[in-house]
Amino acid sequence: MEHTDNQDTTSSKSIQDEKFAILAKKNEEALLGGGEARIASQHKKGKLTARERIDLLLDEGSFEEIGKFVTHRCKDFGLDKEYYLGDGVVTGYGTIYGRLVYVFSQDFTVFGGSLSETFAEKICKIMDLAMKNGAPVIGLNDSGGARIQEGVVSLAGYADIFYRNTLASGVVPQLSAVMGPCAGGAVYSPAITDFILMVEQTSYMFVTGPKVVKTVTNEEVSSEELGGASTHSEKSGVTHFACANEVECIEYLKKLLSYVPQNCEEEAPRIPYESNGNEIRPALNELIPENPNQPYDMREVIEGVLDADTFFEVHKNFAENIVVGFARLGGRSIGIVGNQPAVLAGVLDIKASTKAARFVRFCDAFNIPLLVLEDVPGFLPGTDQEWNGIISNGAKLLYAFCEATVPRVTVITRKAYGGAYDVMNSKHIGADMNYAWPTAEIAVMGAKGASEIIFKNEISQAEDPEAKLQEKVEEYTRKFATPYRAAARGYIDEVIRPEETRHKLLRAFAMLENKVATLPKKKHGNIPL
Ligand code: HXC
Repeated sequence: MEHTDNQDTTSSKSIQDEKFAILAKKNEEALLGGGEARIASQHKKGKLTARERIDLLLDEGSFEEIGKFVTHRCKDFGLDKEYYLGDGVVTGYGTIYGRLVYVFSQDFTVFGGSLSETFAEKICKIMDLAMKNGAPVIGLNDSGGARIQEGVVSLAGYADIFYRNTLASGVVPQLSAVMGPCAGGAVYSPAITDFILMVEQTSYMFVTGPKVVKTVTNEEVSSEELGGASTHSEKSGVTHFACANEVECIEYLKKLLSYVPQNCEEEAPRIPYESNGNEIRPALNELIPENPNQPYDMREVIEGVLDADTFFEVHKNFAENIVVGFARLGGRSIGIVGNQPAVLAGVLDIKASTKAARFVRFCDAFNIPLLVLEDVPGFLPGTDQEWNGIISNGAKLLYAFCEATVPRVTVITRKAYGGAYDVMNSKHIGADMNYAWPTAEIAVMGAKGASEIIFKNEISQAEDPEAKLQEKVEEYTRKFATPYRAAARGYIDEVIRPEETRHKLLRAFAMLENKVATLPKKKHGNIPL
């Protein structure tokens, strides 16, 4: 009896061992993706594999894979003989600095990372989980597009993802890193997400590639020139970050996440801050040049008022006449929008308006308070701007500020002219606290332009028109190019010395911490897109 029992145990143990061995073998196979040779080829191109990227991104040992053994269902074009476990995308969840994230990483070693029906299902599965559990989704893209052998089924898979990207927009943060090809309709998933990061030289995004471009427009252009990281970070603004390499790209993803909350119901993580009791920054008193037409760098104001070394600039190389990014104030995440007098005098144009509008909407969607640093001479004149729609594009920024319900504070450092004064988070469109430095000039336009119009007759009839103009400019400047008319009306809450700015902002944002503001009930607004 005893003998038989032992025999049974031994044989069931060996069956179990066999089953465990099958599992181990499958796991090993899945880890190899498209195989050693293709992994080597990926490395040769200077690219990491899908799994290496996940390892770099997530906290060590935190990755839990979902759908490792999924395979495609296509039987056409010989695919019934070619299966890879996982089917070209690694999906799952893990943590970054201890916070839950969902991730998909396209595996170029399997059918060029091309998207099949099952590939799309895997991505949709983690997006659905992310929505239910309120955590960010990070997509690492490296794909030849639709799995050509699958036809319309692949297109349907893309659409399923686009739909979820849209539903998730404003609910959980969505970040896209493009680390290889991303072409055709495939670009529209990253495009709907909140931020795109691209890697210099090894990634590109375009709706139609160089060959089609040559056929249709006869232009000769390389992939890199048409849709590389530099092109999209400088010319089109499609990407928010151009990264030198994949490691930097992954570092940026992590850094970006550190400033944003898990979902729209939560606050961004705060890091402990203890004031040393001295929040005065005397260097700021020397920043504004005597001559109002002389530039200075708004980043110096940012560095001067926010926590040291916390500014993380977004869209750095695009529309440089406006600066946007995240920083910390007293340890709390804040979104910054600053006109940049060092580029085009900080004028608002189409690109600057859309860049800032999108940033403002992201911050508002995810409960990140907004700080506006204003030095703006107005909107950029000219046929180029008018014909390309500065009216509707400028209106995007106006609209974005108007509907933002997060705590909003403005500091006018120098110029606040014309319509741009209204647009740049003025009191009238819902800002909570508006400060001005004594150097602020809040007026309909610059003193010279204004004098030439309102004193036209007086100047032209004067014996010395130049001297008369100068006299009138001085008179106008004295009367109007100051913050005091606006302060007298209460449009400015306080005129402060530059050195006090940090102290005032710390107190203002603390005061606004429990702000509750709601918009009128509606299905959704109609931002002038
Ligand atoms: C199936 C694909 C594939 C695809 C690449 N492969 N793209 N398999 N469907 N879309 C396979 C290749 O056959 C090859 O298989 C392996 O992936 C690597 O590809 P290579 O060409 O050897 O690599 P490389 O030279 O680096 O070129 C990469 C590439 C090129 C530029 C992406 O593969 C390419 O042009 N692919 C086709 C791109 C395309 O036209 N996609 C459809 C776009 S339309 P082996 O077995 O040799 O390793 C689209 C519509 C989306 O995406 C619409 C959404 C709404």
